[in-house]
Amino acid sequence: MARPSAVFVCGACGGETLKWQGQCPLCGEWNALQQREARTRPAAAAPAMAVVPLSGAGLAGSALTRLASGSGELDRVLGGGIVPGGVMLLGGDPGIGKSTLLLQVAAHVAAAHPVLYASGEESIAQVGLRAQRLGLAADSLALLAETDLSGILEHTRERRAALLVIDSIQTVQSASAQAAPGAISQLRECTAELVRFAKTSGTAVVIVGHVTKEGAIAGPRLLEHLVDTVLYFESDAGSRHRIVRATKNRFGAVNELGFFAMTGTGLKEVRNPAAIFLARAPVPAPGSIVTVIREGGRPLLIELQALVDRMRFGAPRRVAQGLDANRLAMLLAAANRHAGVSLQEHDVFANVVGGIEISETAWDLPVVLALASSLNGRALPPDMVAFGEIGLTGEVRPVPYGDERLREALAQGFRRAIVPAGNAPRSPPAGLRVVAVARIAEALEAAFV
Ligand code: TYD
Ligand code: MG
Repeated sequence: MARPSAVFVCGACGGETLKWQGQCPLCGEWNALQQREARTRPAAAAPAMAVVPLSGAGLAGSALTRLASGSGELDRVLGGGIVPGGVMLLGGDPGIGKSTLLLQVAAHVAAAHPVLYASGEESIAQVGLRAQRLGLAADSLALLAETDLSGILEHTRERRAALLVIDSIQTVQSASAQAAPGAISQLRECTAELVRFAKTSGTAVVIVGHVTKEGAIAGPRLLEHLVDTVLYFESDAGSRHRIVRATKNRFGAVNELGFFAMTGTGLKEVRNPAAIFLARAPVPAPGSIVTVIREGGRPLLIELQALVDRMRFGAPRRVAQGLDANRLAMLLAAANRHAGVSLQEHDVFANVVGGIEISETAWDLPVVLALASSLNGRALPPDMVAFGEIGLTGEVRPVPYGDERLREALAQGFRRAIVPAGNAPRSPPAGLRVVAVARIAEALEAAFV
């Protein structure tokens, strides 16, 4: 069959159709279709393959020395530093601190290797001013206010840069995609071009991607499959703490967390984050308890709060913030059946203080204790922690890393712990009284002595 000689390309989404229409049938954009000669299939290129044995001399010459980012927390999330030729995507809400972090990283790397920081969002003067404010002295850090990708790559090649920062992918534009900067086809094409560049030149590339209001559609999620490493910057509204999470990493573990605090002079790493979410009221209050969760390979002490209130009308409400609401409903049923904590006539609210999301099950036991505490109006001892999973038959099940959690609780000044029998250490750490429980009822008895 003869191929059509022309196609129409949408300027917004980059989709192709065979006939002109007022509205793009793919994305719904009006007046965006433009005629273009149909792509002819490129002549088959000569095979350019190289077979390299995985062991032996083939890889010896290409030993990858990772670049230290200057921040132990970021290196940890990356799996030990920035990999030459690797492409990393840093996503996050506008204003969360992506440019600040990367400017600090770029300046650190620039002390030993040439670095190019391409900013399409801010002028050179603005970036320079920020670098000054952050006290960064970086003589071999080159700033470039440019949005044309081929220009950026040319400069990078010329300088033989070891690191290229693109801030942000939503502002760059490649001539080979006929769409406005930020359009889906531009994002894809530019990222693919950057990946090809990184792999052939050995330059590490960091791409900033704003998480836009439309989120999944025009944001960094679209590019995740193209890059080697995906990092997301998270923060609680109003908090100065920032968490960097690796959701994909070809060079390290995923779900590692790095902790930072935004200060007047840039992002400072938080080396011991175990207690950063812990800011408790000075007077013990009913419904509050501290638990030890394990997120990103580290134990974290977190305050859980529960409030039960006599239901006024309609069906009882179950609201969970930072916790899985279905699991909360299951815990309410288990506590009712196996420990007589009856909350059918009550509205129930459970909250994780600090805005972190808990995905493991170690919060089961502390939440039940907090619910009972709120129901009885009796505060739990302020020097007590609890963790453990609860099963449907009312048993308290062990969770991984029990010893590590206990050690961290002791280090943060806690003196009592209610833990699953399966997590009871043979010799508890000195200074910590560990109560091992096998069932919900036992835990309640031990908590309210
Ligand atoms: P920025 O890095 O520009 O965010 P992004 O690139 O993710 O959009 O961060 C801007 C915010 O950080 C802004 O609200 C001001 C704050 N900030 C500080 O608090 N201290 C500092 O030293 C700097 C440079 C920024
Ligand atoms: Mg920025």
